[in-house]
Amino acid sequence: MLKDKKIVIGVAGGIAAYKVVTLVSRLVQAGAEVRVVMTEAATKLVSPLLFKEISGRPVACDMWAGNDEFNVEHVALGRWADLMVVAPATANIIGKMANGIADDLLSTTLMACDKPKIVCPAMNSNMLANPAVVRNLETLRQDGIVIMPSASGHLACGVDGSGRLPEPEEIKSFIDYFLAQREGDLRGIRILVTAGGTREPIDPVRFIGNRSSGKMGYAIARDAVRRGADVILVSGPTALRHPDHVRFIQVESTEEMMDACLKVYPDVDAVVKAAAVADYRPHERAAQKIKKNDENLILALDKTQDILKRLGQEKRQQFLVGFAAETQNLMRNAAEKVRKKNLDMIVANDVTQAGAGFSTDTNIVKFLFPDGTVRELGIMPKEEVGNLILDIVRDHVGKNRK
Ligand code: PMT
Repeated sequence: MLKDKKIVIGVAGGIAAYKVVTLVSRLVQAGAEVRVVMTEAATKLVSPLLFKEISGRPVACDMWAGNDEFNVEHVALGRWADLMVVAPATANIIGKMANGIADDLLSTTLMACDKPKIVCPAMNSNMLANPAVVRNLETLRQDGIVIMPSASGHLACGVDGSGRLPEPEEIKSFIDYFLAQREGDLRGIRILVTAGGTREPIDPVRFIGNRSSGKMGYAIARDAVRRGADVILVSGPTALRHPDHVRFIQVESTEEMMDACLKVYPDVDAVVKAAAVADYRPHERAAQKIKKNDENLILALDKTQDILKRLGQEKRQQFLVGFAAETQNLMRNAAEKVRKKNLDMIVANDVTQAGAGFSTDTNIVKFLFPDGTVRELGIMPKEEVGNLILDIVRDHVGKNRK
């Protein structure tokens, strides 16, 4: 979403201004065009020259300096921008924005700019909690300005509390998400993604599980967020950090995954079921660790419920995408799952192939549809597989809504 976006970053005079150098660098690396406007106080903390070198563009600081590039600079900057971000936003600039004060280049540019604005407050915790600042932030919200919540932690004034400027990567992700929600091709689409493997406990220390790392499902969830969807990610245990901006539901067993999916199912437009779900669970869960002895141990197993089949039975508006992990008869088994589980599409992967299936960063898949159409894809990153699945989801959900 950041590629070719024109972003004006307003830097006010807070100590966290130094972090904004990295933010500008990250935005430029992501393909955005960035122009920096600094208050006089900000120039005392970070040199405008540094921002100029990092952004690759002149930095605007002075109302009266004149500008060879732009006539009436504050108006032209607002016109040029697709988005304005104020970081760090001090109590002073927040107060000016909320009360219509325009007495320097940043505050006049903000006032002249009719494009979306994000404000990232950063200040001492007492200042942030001051009724005037609270009131001013509320006014900004009512004016349609987006406030990125401050982080908590160590503050420059030496105390721990709220009021920290979030890390540059977090601000970049917030901006990206904001843009995706406004412009992404999946905006307004609610998608349930499942990922990872479920675990069925044998006793307090052992379980039946499988080799799913969660990479496939997490890649789909990440792609969907980037494209503006509202994403619910129901995940079995993995070693991965879940993507930002998803509603994350952690589960362990098949039963827990079933409950979580059924709860959100009526309200979603599509489901992508990449999780590897345990088909059997121990008939009994031992209350204590089963002690080893000289005998073999025979475990009785019960069938778990088939979540996808149940979703297929209760299908209304939802576009239902299943996965098939197979080691033989890939397409025959996949076709049977499409039929039995009432799917709109299945992503079949032969997990014996190098570069496909469990734990790899790539996958090799075939898409199969109820009418027998097959689309065969070569080896590609799981992110790319995710995007191709989501293209199909978008087309079908869009068609249903017309
Ligand atoms: O997580 P990674 O390491 O990245 O690996 C990716 C993956 C191999 C797990 C993924 O690409 C994949 O194939 N996921 C589906 C694995 C699987 O359980 O396949 P299956 O053929 O057993 O099940 C078919 C479909 O029914 C799946 O969508 C599964 O989520 C669903 N199912 C299965 C059993 C059950 N009790 N309930 C279900 O909902």
